[in-house]
Amino acid sequence: MDSWRFVHVADMQPGSPKSFRYLPQLTENWRAAQRQIRAAAPEVLLVGGDLTRDGNVHRFEMEEMRADLDGLGVPYRVVPGNMDTGNKHIRVAGCHRRNPQQYDDVGLNVTSAQLRNFAEVFGPLQWSFDHRGVRFSGFTDMVVNSGLPEEDAFWRWAEEQARRPRARHHIWVMHYALFVERPDEPDWDPTQPEHYHDWYFSVDRPGRGRLMDLFQSTGATLVISGHIHCRRALVADGIRFDYAPSTSFGQWAGRWPDGDPALGFMVYTVSADGIAGRFEPLREVVQAVGEPYGVGGHPLPAARDYGMAWDPSYARTLNGRVPTLQDP
Ligand SMILES: [Fe+2]
Repeated sequence: MDSWRFVHVADMQPGSPKSFRYLPQLTENWRAAQRQIRAAAPEVLLVGGDLTRDGNVHRFEMEEMRADLDGLGVPYRVVPGNMDTGNKHIRVAGCHRRNPQQYDDVGLNVTSAQLRNFAEVFGPLQWSFDHRGVRFSGFTDMVVNSGLPEEDAFWRWAEEQARRPRARHHIWVMHYALFVERPDEPDWDPTQPEHYHDWYFSVDRPGRGRLMDLFQSTGATLVISGHIHCRRALVADGIRFDYAPSTSFGQWAGRWPDGDPALGFMVYTVSADGIAGRFEPLREVVQAVGEPYGVGGHPLPAARDYGMAWDPSYARTLNGRVPTLQDP
């Protein structure tokens, strides 16, 4: 059989000079990644979430990213990340926030309105398609354990997937990592400072166990996730898990001895021997260009100053209002 390639890219989140915050190097790094993806000439492009820095409030960031992806000329499918919609659900305030006046963990829980907004730009929240003997399936893991109507719809769809005849290879795409250390680890406690990030980057029970059952019952070969910005590969219960690199900035260096926060994306080659993954590092990494502005993290609306925007066009349309999902 002829070998062929697919690419997985995630966590590009370039942001926008129209926003209340901007790190221009993230845009430059995404441009470098686009050039290298074109050069890699994949047959399929998988996009693993966090396409935007603030797509959960800025529809225009999602539409700009859709234009970028359309411009690559490669068939692509997208799963959302928490920056594009909202976070996985938390029921208590987390412990790490620098200024409680600027942050509200529970208020960041993903909502149905955010999910609809994403789906209007990028299509269904869960999908599955076959390409040359490989089945690719992706879903919106922020709904897991949320109790939202979209969670029920997801599990109904998942049950249908488990009933389908198996493909030779089955690759799953999600945003959060399923687990930090192992699939049967206890839930991490977001009120404990030493475990906040473990909680933030992974999926809680009972959904985690149900997802593991789904992967087993559908003959998963490989599960690719984003969100952490630290590349790692491991095998659990016979399934390979790839934690994808980011194109924007690295995180969590040192959490695992085998984690690598270097920027880039993954190129997979499918051949008669199986599926081999290769890290493609960004060849031109920009650390700083221009003067960044704005607050980090997930700030509350009151902490967002659109008067700082380099491009005032969006702030003008707001005219001092807080943006909503209905804004263009
Ligand atoms: Fe994320």
